[in-house]
Amino acid sequence: MKIAITGKGGVGKSTLSAALALLLARQGRTVLAVDADPDANLAASLGVPADERRQMIPISRQIALIEERTGAKVGRSGQVFKLNPDVSDIADTFAWRHGDVSLLVLGAVERGGGGCACPENVLLKALVSDVVLNRDEALVLDMEAGIEHLGRGTTRGVDVMIVVVEPGQRSVDTARRVFELGGQIGVHRFGVVANKIATPEDEAFVREAFPDKELLGMIPYTEELRSADREGRSVLDGMSPELLARFDGILEKLEKCS
Ligand SMILES: Nc1ncnc2c1ncn2[C@@H]1O[C@H](COP(=O)(O)OP(=O)(O)OP(=O)(O)O)[C@@H](O)[C@H]1O
Ligand SMILES: [Mg+2]
Repeated sequence: MKIAITGKGGVGKSTLSAALALLLARQGRTVLAVDADPDANLAASLGVPADERRQMIPISRQIALIEERTGAKVGRSGQVFKLNPDVSDIADTFAWRHGDVSLLVLGAVERGGGGCACPENVLLKALVSDVVLNRDEALVLDMEAGIEHLGRGTTRGVDVMIVVVEPGQRSVDTARRVFELGGQIGVHRFGVVANKIATPEDEAFVREAFPDKELLGMIPYTEELRSADREGRSVLDGMSPELLARFDGILEKLEKCS
């Protein structure tokens, strides 16, 4: 099961990514969670303690690694470098073990925008492609609203792209852009998770916005998730059975037709 999760900033991508990764691990699966959001916060949602989070160095800042694999100097322009760096060992070597979940933090590429053909970006793209296409474990990919880490060749390994939406027009607009872009690069299954649902009107709003998309589940707006975040706990830690059932339900739906 390889799941990519996207959506507008702040809608609950990391919350959902962490919940699904932890639930898959509870089922006894080997799970790799990948934080592909430049503004990385998946570690906190997984419940990695703050002192450990401070020690994590994202792949985009592993300068020696990037230079060794691409044959280019980071920060220097006009160089010739390998477009197909060997990355097959990176997930095993650099992923942070947290209980039964391994976490790989990709980090941000700071110069020239996300699309630049700089060594960092080439390495990250190759790495995403490797974890999607060549590895056997369950994968949860926490992405930003853009889907630029994925390319046409990589999407065929993604079983489902989940777009998290909250009941608001901006998040719906972002979701529509993701569907369009994802469609262009060959995503074959999209799912919607409606998050932060507080009223029946919220629920109706999301249903009506995406009548032709698979609705995988609805998560209520709840103090439980806010306090887990405030207190730096994993999203599943102390979760009520009612809320847990919502996340379980999403996983069940995902597994049904994958
Ligand atoms: N159902 C919910 N009810 C209440 N608060 C929620 C809910 N889901 C997420 N949150 C809170 O909303 C905030 C944003 O959630 P989260 O970090 O998962 O979103 P994100 O999409 O990953 O954000 P970013 O784009 O910044 O990475 C967090 O404080 C989280 O605890
Ligand atoms: Mg996030």
